[in-house]
Amino acid sequence: MSPGTPQVLISASILNADFGRLDRVVHKLERAGVDRIHLDVMDGHFVDNITFGADVVAAVRRLTRLPLDVHLMISEPARYIERFIAADAQTIAFHVEAPESDARKDAALRAIRAAGQGAGLAVSPGTPVQALAERAADLDLILVMTVEPGWGGQGFMADMAPKIGQARALLAAAGRGGLVHADGGVNHRTAEVVGRHGIDVCVVGSALFQRGRDASEEVEAVRDGVLRGRRARATAPRQG
Ligand code: DX5
Ligand code: ZN
Repeated sequence: MSPGTPQVLISASILNADFGRLDRVVHKLERAGVDRIHLDVMDGHFVDNITFGADVVAAVRRLTRLPLDVHLMISEPARYIERFIAADAQTIAFHVEAPESDARKDAALRAIRAAGQGAGLAVSPGTPVQALAERAADLDLILVMTVEPGWGGQGFMADMAPKIGQARALLAAAGRGGLVHADGGVNHRTAEVVGRHGIDVCVVGSALFQRGRDASEEVEAVRDGVLRGRRARATAPRQG
């Protein structure tokens, strides 16, 4: 990769991993060359699935020096935010659709940033990126869901890809320089699509836990796919 080429960052989701062997899982991902670890927290209320809480985030923190991205799919992010902040991740993102008051959501974003961690908001497929406009200046990242939140191994929703460019424009207009993450169904087949829309961070889950396929092969193939997409984007005739 030539110097100056923005990195393709891979954040590995462990949702489909063996929770009984987190140490082995995390070390396998380190060897596979991922850049970050993505931790899906679900409360069985905001989504129809239950995963883990702040204690598991803290346990993963003790296992690796890789940056951790916490993805909160819970109905009351502000209520639990201090516990996740204490788990010492690099970024915490919660859903703009969470049924908490605007004041509590704003306070949660401020608390994350006051702790020196990156604050983010996630948008589900049914929510336009514009729903984040008022808070863009308070965001270090936007998580664009390319599947309905709740499960790993779902099919990639290509019609969500244009939201990546919209999220970049929102962060750029707010002068924040934040990063856009795409989450759900991203793998070596779909990486080029998110690359074409200017993705910064690819969240990759089940594709890294395929029997008989080395995770490092998938990591490299996703990077290559994103770079192909970026090249296509760079050489595409300008619209309008
Ligand atoms: C889904 C989660 C994703 C998921 C990604 O609700 O937010 O992070 O684990 O896994 P794949 O890559 O299998 O879609
Ligand atoms: Zn996620």
